[in-house]
Amino acid sequence: MTTKLSVALIPVGVRGMKVLDRQKFLRNVIVPILKVSEEKVSNITPICKNYLLKLENFKPVQSLHGDIEGSNRKCIHLNPEKINRWKDITEEDRQSLKKYDVTEENFDSKEIQLTYENFKYDVIFKTVLPENEDIVSGFSQIGHIIHLNLRDHLLDYKPLIGQVLLDKIKTCRTVVNKSNIIDNTYRNFSMEVIAGEEDFVVTVKENRCNFQFDFSKVYWNPRLGKEHERILQFLKPGDVLFDVFCGVGPFAIPAAKHKCKVFANDLNPDSFTWLNHNAKQNKVDMSLFNSYNLDGKDFICTVFKDYIVKLCQGKEELNENTTIHITMNLPAMAVEFLKYFNGLINDQSLVDKYNFKILVHVYCFVVGGDPYNVAEQSVKGNIVDTYGIHISVFHVRNVSPKKEMMRVTFKLTRNIIFGLKTELEFDEPPSKKLCVEEKM
Ligand SMILES: C[S@@+](CC[C@H](N)C(=O)[O-])C[C@H]1O[C@@H](n2cnc3c(N)ncnc32)[C@H](O)[C@@H]1O
Ligand SMILES: *[C@@H]1O[C@H](CO)[C@@H](O)[C@H](O)[C@H]1NC(C)=O
Ligand SMILES: *[C@@H]1O[C@H](CO)[C@@H](O)[C@H](O)[C@H]1NC(C)=O
Ligand SMILES: *[C@@H]1O[C@H](CO)[C@@H](O)[C@H](O)[C@H]1NC(C)=O
Repeated sequence: MTTKLSVALIPVGVRGMKVLDRQKFLRNVIVPILKVSEEKVSNITPICKNYLLKLENFKPVQSLHGDIEGSNRKCIHLNPEKINRWKDITEEDRQSLKKYDVTEENFDSKEIQLTYENFKYDVIFKTVLPENEDIVSGFSQIGHIIHLNLRDHLLDYKPLIGQVLLDKIKTCRTVVNKSNIIDNTYRNFSMEVIAGEEDFVVTVKENRCNFQFDFSKVYWNPRLGKEHERILQFLKPGDVLFDVFCGVGPFAIPAAKHKCKVFANDLNPDSFTWLNHNAKQNKVDMSLFNSYNLDGKDFICTVFKDYIVKLCQGKEELNENTTIHITMNLPAMAVEFLKYFNGLINDQSLVDKYNFKILVHVYCFVVGGDPYNVAEQSVKGNIVDTYGIHISVFHVRNVSPKKEMMRVTFKLTRNIIFGLKTELEFDEPPSKKLCVEEKM
């Protein structure tokens, strides 16, 4: 067989298409095939696995139409990008094929028709959009919503890009272009529907819980699932979680399912509504679950403070091994909220009663410098007494080329809570009213 089959299995003549015309993707190509007996096809196919013609919605093994009368043969389609001639199959594989009576005699070619259905979205974008454009960068899926970050010069291609994604990604019903307009407080952003339904209420699964929310009104980032899981692994049943900036509950809901006592707070009324909805949907034990719609500062200075005071007074009980965790995921400003812990309790008669293990997990963004060091310093700069406290810093994720998201974990000591300063012999005597002015 000498015919040159070499052909790339991509659409042709579609570059610059702005309105999706599926007919234009029709294309006839000649592909190599093996005609083999039906009884042996299950032995033969595995030998051909490196050469099979793999396309969307296409079966590489089909019955052979118009074959010799009475014979029951199958047709194995091979990839013309890999195979032109019988000899392109490796010597070893040809030997294996021979054991099943497959030789050059069985090798042939056939014309097939490729359609829009046979191409994946990335192949379509590569052949339609201006060359060297990576449109799928910054592409994420949240429930049924696909979220793009399209650059300006793709403006004309918006309807096509949206429709192709709707066609190709079965779980996608809505395609949006994310806009720069981010709500700085609630961390949500406005979005423009470029294809599909204008429905922003999504359902996503994370850490074995289902979360439902209106993605246009609350914060959700699918890239934080792993970090949520890491924190959840620190929590033991019976532990207590204060989540100061809880969103729709990715720490709080799984923690409560894990039998932790949870105090979850978010300033955004929509987050609060969906948080409570998610608690119900996931059937959390409501006796373990408390939710608040407060500013983080007020949450710390009332809900958290009251709980710790009650613990000191013996009005709340804790097992001896219990850890109290505080999560603060508002990376742009969470470290600023640490100052509310300084001298939070001023009743000095409770100092001796305070012997709890409280861990703070606070997040921050670092741009430039050694991110570990910068993160540690920005935490230390906001707490009164850093003497002897152990701070550990963890790299969560890379946000953009120069921006890192870090987590700083440290123990909330008695000195911080009561506004005391460790007295070192060589220090000045500490000011008695230290940090009391920080109190509201
Ligand atoms: C980055 S999101 C984190 C949400 C969630 N913890 C997560 O990991 O997905 C920060 C959240 O803090 C809330 N927030 C912003 N400012 C706040 C404040 N001053 N007090 C309480 N919550 C605030 C926002 O509404 C948003 O839901
Ligand atoms: C998508 O949104 C961004 C941010 O608002 C905007 O700059 C860009 O022009 C939009 N892209 C298209 C193709 O409309
Ligand atoms: C963010 O969500 C709030 C409601 O939670 C909404 O009023 C606001 O318009 C949204 N902001 C943006 C930029 O979409
Ligand atoms: C606390 O931990 C210690 C050591 O792991 C264990 O021996 C003890 O039984 C635990 N106490 C409770 C109340 O779980």
